[in-house]
This record gives sequence, structure tokens and C-alpha cells, in this order.
Amino acid sequence: MSRQKSVPFKSLKLLSAAAVAILASCAAPGGDHEAHVYPSSPAAPVGMAHSQADDPRVLVHFPDMLRAHTLANMRDHLLALAEIQDQLARGAFDKASDIAEQRLGMSSLGLHGAHDVAQFMPQGMQAAGTAMHRSASQFAIVAKDASVTGDVKGSVAALAKVTQTCVACHAAYRIQ
Ligand code: HEC
Repeated sequence: MSRQKSVPFKSLKLLSAAAVAILASCAAPGGDHEAHVYPSSPAAPVGMAHSQADDPRVLVHFPDMLRAHTLANMRDHLLALAEIQDQLARGAFDKASDIAEQRLGMSSLGLHGAHDVAQFMPQGMQAAGTAMHRSASQFAIVAKDASVTGDVKGSVAALAKVTQTCVACHAAYRIQ
């Protein structure tokens, strides 16, 4: 019809092609790299079940209170990432380092009641949690060094590694 209609139609087509590509890469069973990180059947503890065919994540059963507590922790993880990025942008490497160590790093294990939660997790999920704590403590060291060297790139790269550990666990497990 009119010229005005054909332009949005073209961009719609592009958008939907992109969406299909993204969906396809997410859905490919065993084809995406996350699936290789956590192969289909980690040592299976009580209370673990495989989810529906359209959701490849492993469903892990937590007691209700622990589930709510875990999700609240998760929201704080995201907040911590935002605060770290904000401090990095200001060149406040020391602050970024402290937030990472205390809220996400090895020092945060007590804070999160990690021991209580860990007993309900399959081994692969525990490993994913440990990877997150380790990478955050590693970032904390890199960012501390950066307060002397001013190495922004190294800090950003170390922070990306932390975010990748969030992504890896989310790709493999769910608790609701
Ligand atoms: C050991 C596994 C694991 C790691 C590591 C992990 N998460 Fe999660 N996270 C989960 C699970 C499981 C859920 C619930 C998802 C579901 O059941 O659909 C979740 C949910 C969340 C939610 C949603 C909370 C809500 O109220 O629904 C946020 C936000 C989140 N995570 C942020 C993060 C961030 C940021 C990181 C990294 C710094 C991270 N998580 C690392 C397992 C993990």
C-alpha cells in the first residue's frame, strides 16, 4: 500500500528474524555453551526433578522460606552488580572491590547462609555458586590493584567473568 506502511513492515521483519535467531540459540538442546557447562544430569539429590520439555533448566526444590530468602539474595546480587558498575564508572576501584568481596565474594558466604542453602542444591549448582563467589573475590583483587594502576579494562573484564557465573547458573537451574 502506501510508502509509510512498507517501512515499518520491513523493520518488523528484521526484528522478528532477530527474535527467531535468539530463541533458536536459546532453545537448542545441548547446542548452547551453557548446556555443556552443566551436563544434563548432575549427581541427583532428593527433591530434584527435570522440568518440562520447553524449559531445559533443572527444577530444584527448596523449602518455601529458603526459596524466598534465596530470591531476596539474588535481588541483592543484582543490586551489588549495579553498585559495582557505578563505582567503576566513578573510578572508585576500592569501593567497587569492597562491594564485590562483601556482597558476592567468599566473604559473603556467611551473610547468605550459604551452608543452609547448599544442602538442597545438586552438586553442579553448588559448583556454580562457588564459581560466583570465587570470581567475585578475584574481581575484588583486580579492582584493588586498579586503584593503583588505573586499569579499568582489567576490572571490567573481571566483572564480566562474575556476570557469566550468574548466567551459567540461571541457564541450568530454577527453584520455582
Ligand atoms: C548457584 C546458582 C545461581 C547463581 C550463581 C546466581 N543465581 Fe540468580 N537465581 C538462581 C535461581 C535458581 C533463581 C530462580 C530462577 C527461577 O526459579 O526461575 C535466581 C533468580 C535470580 C533473580 C530473580 C530474583 C526474583 O526475585 O525473582 C535475580 C535478580 C538474580 N537471580 C540475580 C543474580 C545475579 C546478579 C547473580 C550473579 C552475581 C546470580 N543471580 C547468580 C540461581 C543463581
